[in-house]
Order: sequence, then C-alpha cells, then structure tokens
Amino acid sequence: MVDIMSRRRLMQVAGAAAMMAGATPLFAAATRKPRVLRSDFLWGAATAGHQVEGGNVNSDSWVSEHLKPSAFAEPSGDACDSWNRWREDIDIVKRLGLNTYRFGIEWSRIEPERGEWSLAALAHYRQMLDYCAQLGLRALVTYSHFTVPRWFAAAGGWEEPSNVDLFVRFCEKAARALGDGYSHALTFNEPNLAAQLSWQPEFRQAMPMFAMGNAAAARQVGSDRFSSTLTADQARAVPHQIVAHQRAVEAIKSVRPDLQLGLSLSMADEQAGPGKSALQRKIAEVYAPWFEAVAKDDFVGVQTYGRAVVGPDGDLPPLGGVELTQTGMEFYPEALEATVKWAAKATGRPIIVTENGVATGDDSRRIAFIDRALAGLGRAVDAGVDVRGYIHWSLLDNFEWNRAYTARFGLVSVDRNTFARTIKPSGSHLGTYARTNRI
Ligand code: BGC
Repeated sequence: MVDIMSRRRLMQVAGAAAMMAGATPLFAAATRKPRVLRSDFLWGAATAGHQVEGGNVNSDSWVSEHLKPSAFAEPSGDACDSWNRWREDIDIVKRLGLNTYRFGIEWSRIEPERGEWSLAALAHYRQMLDYCAQLGLRALVTYSHFTVPRWFAAAGGWEEPSNVDLFVRFCEKAARALGDGYSHALTFNEPNLAAQLSWQPEFRQAMPMFAMGNAAAARQVGSDRFSSTLTADQARAVPHQIVAHQRAVEAIKSVRPDLQLGLSLSMADEQAGPGKSALQRKIAEVYAPWFEAVAKDDFVGVQTYGRAVVGPDGDLPPLGGVELTQTGMEFYPEALEATVKWAAKATGRPIIVTENGVATGDDSRRIAFIDRALAGLGRAVDAGVDVRGYIHWSLLDNFEWNRAYTARFGLVSVDRNTFARTIKPSGSHLGTYARTNRI
C-alpha cells in the first residue's frame, strides 16, 4: 500500500515537472490505461485528387504550375499515378489496419467543360468506392480540395457570385452518382487556408507574384480574369464560398439525407506572442466566419499541423533552436489537443480530425508526432469532446503544392520513377492504434 502510494506520488511529481518543461508527462502516458474509443471511430489516411492522381490537366492548378515563372517548384506531372494505381492505394489502407480512406473527387475530371459531364470519370470514382466497400473500408469524400476546373477559374472562380450555382450543381450531380458509396463527405477542404496564410509574412510578400500569376493564367486560357482558390481575393471569395457550402449541403442532403456532411478547417494552435498581439483580429478574420457557417453541419473537420504564435503584425517565425519540419514549421504535435477542444467549443459540433501530420524525411519523428498528437487527442476525449475520427495526412508522399515533391508527409513512400509504394514504419504504427481502437 505504502509502496503504491509513494509510486503514485512520484508519478505526479514527475508528470508536473515534465509539464512545466513543456514535455508530455511520460510516466502518466506510460501507466494510464489506454482509452477505448467509440466502436465506429474512423481511423484513416487521406489523399487529395490533384496531389496523387497525376495528369489533372483540366484543373486551375495545372495551368498555374506551367506558367513561367511559376510559384510551383515543379509541375505535378504524374504525381503518384493514383489515377491508375488507386486499387493498390486502397489495398494499403486496408493492410495498415485502418478502416477509412479519405480521398477527393476531382471536379475538373467530372465536368471537364461547363455542363459536360464525364461518365467515365464518375465510373472511375464509383469503382474506387465499390472497392472500399468490398474491403470493408469507409470512404470520406472531399468534393473540393483546392483545385477547380480551369473553366471555372477562368470565369472568376469563387470571386464571382453566380459561380456558386455551378458548384452546387456539381455536388448534387456527384451525390446522385456516387452518394450511396460513402458515409461522410466534406464540401470544401480548408476554405480558410488562404486567409490563414496571409498572416505569414512570406506569403504576404508573395501576393504580388500570385496576382501576376493569375493575370498570366488568364492570358493563357483566353479569359479576362482567372481566380484560383488559394490566390483569390479572399474578401470577395469567402462570402461566396460560405453560401456555396451551405447550399451544397442542402443539395447533397436532398439526394442523400443519410450522409454525414461538413467541411474542414485549417486550424493552428493560435497563441498570443509577446507584447501586443493581433491574435483576436486574426481569429476574427480567419476562423469566426467559418465557425458560424458550420453551425448546422453534422461534424467539423479539424486539420492541424502545428502552432502559430501571433505578433502585432502577423505570425512570428519559430524560435531559434526548435525542431523544424520540412516545411519550416515548428515540430509541435500538441497543437491537436488545443485545436480539437477549440473547434468543439466554438462550434458545438462533433469533431473528425480530417488531417494531421508532419513533413519529415525521418520516419521516427513521424512516429513520435503520431504518439504525441494522439495522446493529446485522448486528453480532448477525456475532457468530453465528441471526437469521431482521426485521419492522417497523408497516405502517400505526394505533390505538396508549391513545394512539389520536396516535403514528405506520407505513411507510405512512392518511388518517383517506378511509383512503387513502400509502407513506412509510421504506417504500421498508426495501424496498431487503429486495430486496437485505443489511444
Ligand atoms: C492540405 C493538404 C496539404 C497539407 C500539408 C493541408 O493544408 O489540405 O492538401 O498537402 O496541408 O501541407
């Protein structure tokens, strides 16, 4: 008895000391009984059409990637050739022990010209959904993961109010053709990302280049304007995207009332820096409109990669000496606990973590990231947050937008010449959590 009491006390002291040092209290983590999660908890890995399929030639991004000069390190090209290798990708999700595959359906393939629908593209996604079902996997589908058809961008993209109808029509059409094949869907992936990035000094500096890029793309496609999701004028685009989301949800529900629908938000653990911080202004700009917009959704998708420390004029760079990821962010998996709790409190909706991950060439750091992020997620569950899933970004090392192939987020590596997939230890590691359904 005395022995047990003193061990417990020792653990409390060690835990408190570790927390004061900013570290995870290891004793507590090692000795606490893992939580069993709800039986329908989604354990998954995510991809996005443009980042893995390859040859997405009809998208706005393909146009921008081929401008000279371009903001992209290199064009997406064949990406991971998942347009052809999708079966292998789904097999891997199953082999890892996960129960969910999140992937995107590309509007630019399904509606290659305004009002022209590709039955072959719909059939392609149908086959993917059927194969998931055959393997007992759930599918969580993204309708719009940044990319839009080039004709849509050429017509002013999200900046043009009448374009909302076009997105709603696409969502309804896709729901009719495919909606019985999945249980969950996101209308938009991170529609608040551009606003969030505009708080980063480097992004702000690049804005004139984005404007030049849009003008060059417009010339390329023979239009007098070209507006890509991430480089659009956010003050004009966001109000239309909010309406597009709400109308798309209604349209999809009118076809498939049983689907769980939401959107995902890019959420950093937003912290006030020293001195006078603009944190509240940032939250009002980047998050508040979307927290309101999702008030009636079935869930909110939380996507978290780290923390942002906000100074008087924008985000501050990471402190010297901290561990950095391949995208220059601080390695900070604890952000997930904070964002999940925040999203639940701000929206009152159930939460699905639809992306969380780290860009690293050292897979042992990904394992550490997963352990620490999931420990935090467990604390959020203990605090009463209704968390319904954890979907890791990403299944594959893939086309990381402007960074092209230099940042590796995958649980699985992809040979750039042969497209051969190799499961990394972190993939099997995440699978162990999924198989036991415990964190
Ligand atoms: C996006 C992904 C991206 C990931 C890592 C998220 O913002 O949804 O498309 O690859 O972050 O940067």
